[in-house]
Amino acid sequence: PSINLQEIHDFLVTIAYLSGNMMTSARPTTSSTGQKQNAADLVTETDRNIEQFLSKQIQERYPNYQFMGEETYKPGDTLTDAPTFIVDPIDGTTNFVHSYPYACVSLGLAVNRTPVLGVIYNPFTNQLFTAQEGKGAYLTDALHEREKLPLKELEPFYNQDGNGGLGNCLVIGEWGSHRSGNDYDVKVNTFRKLCAEKKDGGAMVHSIRSLGSAALNICSVAAGWADVYWEGGCWAWDVCAALAVLKEAGGEVVDANPGRWKVAIDGRRFLVIRGGEGWEGVVKEFWDCVEGELE
Ligand code: IPD
Repeated sequence: PSINLQEIHDFLVTIAYLSGNMMTSARPTTSSTGQKQNAADLVTETDRNIEQFLSKQIQERYPNYQFMGEETYKPGDTLTDAPTFIVDPIDGTTNFVHSYPYACVSLGLAVNRTPVLGVIYNPFTNQLFTAQEGKGAYLTDALHEREKLPLKELEPFYNQDGNGGLGNCLVIGEWGSHRSGNDYDVKVNTFRKLCAEKKDGGAMVHSIRSLGSAALNICSVAAGWADVYWEGGCWAWDVCAALAVLKEAGGEVVDANPGRWKVAIDGRRFLVIRGGEGWEGVVKEFWDCVEGELE
């Protein structure tokens, strides 16, 4: 049966706004916050309440679709080709706990494991990012103005002399919640290499940003506010909706580890880049800076 993406989109926008109200009316505190795998992997009562709300709404309305959510995921649950809602009730939980105003509800739909629809709402800045396959990506701002993404022209990455590339990029990277072992070392060493001034004239990126939400990071690249986002460790619910937005905005996604041009939404390692001529060259320059391999 064909899928009415417009109808699902409108429904997801409605429940995203309602979830946003639940976020802004909550008063999380660091002392009442729970931990998952370690002291930097946080969960609040509000994450659980919103997921409960979302799963009920979605499953009542679309009982034949699969549902995957951050707070109800169990190890061993796998993503199939069936239409699947992939949901993060609060992406950016650490920000939410600290009242740092970059947290969102992220609602994606994947068909054949490919994101086809994304709705991401940050109720603190009142920004709504949406995309449907083949219909473009949009940002609706606090004044309810709706603009097509990217918000600026996608400049070529290199100039006519072949200069520019990674050295002209604003990069987004995240520390993630695992703070030891191989992946932590790879991240720290890669950030160091990306930012360091090079004697041989190699690329030194303009800077590194971390919004604290994978979904908002990817939407920032889709908007054209940043050029590249690199992370290992995030999950399908962190990225599904935002990757639908990215694709419709002309962006690309490959593996965070060098040499792998194909990536699955549950692959947990991502290098996201805005569209624009020469993007493949920037990916290669970036991979040259990845010190080791993320597991
Ligand atoms: C996390 C955020 C963070 C990213 C982590 C995610 P959560 O999601 O997106 O930016 O670095 O990999 O797990 O826990 O806030 O939903």
